Amino acid sequence: MVPKVLIVCLGNICRSPMGEAVLRKVAKDRDIDIVVDSAGTGAYHLGEEPDERTTSTCEKSGVPISHEARQVQDKDFYSFTHILAADTSNLNDLLRKKPEDATAEVKLWGSYLDGKSIPDPYYGGIQGFENIYQQCVKLSNAFLDTLSGAPSASL
Ligand code: 4NP
Repeated sequence: MVPKVLIVCLGNICRSPMGEAVLRKVAKDRDIDIVVDSAGTGAYHLGEEPDERTTSTCEKSGVPISHEARQVQDKDFYSFTHILAADTSNLNDLLRKKPEDATAEVKLWGSYLDGKSIPDPYYGGIQGFENIYQQCVKLSNAFLDTLSGAPSASL
């Protein structure tokens, strides 16, 4: 079965659309078949394009990015195999929303690598976006390693 992965942050304009774009690109480069989308726990930015700083950071590294912000829905807990939270606050919100018979695995994305959250870069400068870009690349590889059964690059 092709893994279907939903990356989740708060606003779905900074971290999760970047995570979605990076995971899709890293998987493509590694020739791994995967479906990726992203969503937010909040509804503040519905329908918006990713933050300009997220877009420029991705494009500078040749990572295509295109997304319209949306909020997590109940059906996501059944249609995705994995729902990966950017930070622990996002994870707690997801676990509160998660229906009892949900089929998706809901985890902190960082749990595949070092247990760390992806910090919210919204109120900071461009360096924060560069930093989380590098984090998304590492997290993408760590997650894909677990799918292919390869030893984690972090070990
Ligand atoms: P994101 O960043 O959760 O990574 O998309 C944020 C975007 C917007 C806001 C907070 C975080 N906001 O408060 O509007």
